[in-house]
Amino acid sequence: MLVVEGIKKHFAGIAALDGASIEVRAGESVGLVGPNGSGKSTALNCCSGFERPDAGRVLLLGKDVTGKEPWDVAKLGLVRTFQHANLPTKMSVMDLMLAGGHLVRGETIRHSLVSWKRVREEEADAVDKAWSILERIKLDKLAGHPGGKLSGGQQKLLSLGMALMGDPKILMLDEPTAGVNPSLRVELAEHLRKLQTEGVTLLTVEHDMRFISDVCDRVYVLDRGAIIASCAPAELSDHPEVLEAYLGRSGSRAVVESADRRTLS
Ligand SMILES: Nc1ncnc2c1ncn2[C@@H]1O[C@H](COP(=O)(O)OP(=O)(O)O)[C@@H](O)[C@H]1O
Ligand SMILES: [Mg+2]
Repeated sequence: MLVVEGIKKHFAGIAALDGASIEVRAGESVGLVGPNGSGKSTALNCCSGFERPDAGRVLLLGKDVTGKEPWDVAKLGLVRTFQHANLPTKMSVMDLMLAGGHLVRGETIRHSLVSWKRVREEEADAVDKAWSILERIKLDKLAGHPGGKLSGGQQKLLSLGMALMGDPKILMLDEPTAGVNPSLRVELAEHLRKLQTEGVTLLTVEHDMRFISDVCDRVYVLDRGAIIASCAPAELSDHPEVLEAYLGRSGSRAVVESADRRTLS
C-alpha cells in the first residue's frame, strides 16, 4: 500500500527526517511513535503531499507520489487527519463533512458549470454519505452545530468523519487521542479497528501506547528523523534503543514513570 524510501526533510538546518523508510501492507494497521520532535508529523506531511521531501521517495499502491499535491494524493486513496484540528467556528459539522468530500473529489469551477446536473446528484449523494458517517461516529445530532465549537474529542471524531468522506484506502491519523477523554478514546479505537476490518489500511501517530497496542498490529519507532525499530507493540520494551530514545536524553524520573504507565511521550 505504502512504501516510503529514505525520506529526508530539513528545516533551516534541522534534519526533521533523516532517511526514514516505512512500509505498510494493504489491510495493516501500523503505528508510528517517537519522542516529541522526532519527525512523525513531518513524515505524515511528506506522505500526504503537505511537505515535499528533500530526498527519498513515497510510493502509494506502486505509484510514485513524491512531491505531489495533497489533493492528488488524496484522489489516489491517501487521506490524513491533523494533529491540531483547528476547525472553523463558522462552518457547521455538516458543512465540514461536505468540504471533506470536496477536497478529495477535487472539483473545478468548469466541472460545476459544464455538468451541473451531475454535480447536483453528487451533492445529494454526498449529503447522504455525510449523514451515514455522522451516525456512525454519533455526531449526527450535532450536524448543525459549528464544528470549531465542539469539544476537543468531538473535533477529533469529526476530523475522522471528514477523512472518511474521501473513501480512504489508507488513512493516516496524527495523534488522534490528544485531548480526548478516556471513554471517547475507547470508542475511537473501536472505530479504527472496524475500519481495518472493512479494508482500510491505517497508519497512526500516537503517544498513548495503550491506544497503539489496542489499534496497531505493528509499530515503527522514529528517533531524530530515522526509524530505529519496527516490531509488535508488545515487543517495544525489548528494544534497548527505544528505551534509550525515550529515556536516555532526559533521564528524568517523571518520564521513566510515565513509560511504566505505558505512555511514552
Ligand atoms: N514547518 C517547519 N518549519 C521548521 N521546523 C519544523 C517545521 N516542521 C517541523 N519542524 C521541526 O522538525 C522537527 C520534527 O518535527 P515534527 O515532525 O513536528 O515532530 P513530531 O511530530 O515527531 O513531534 C522538529 O524539530 C520541528 O521543530
Ligand atoms: Mg507531531
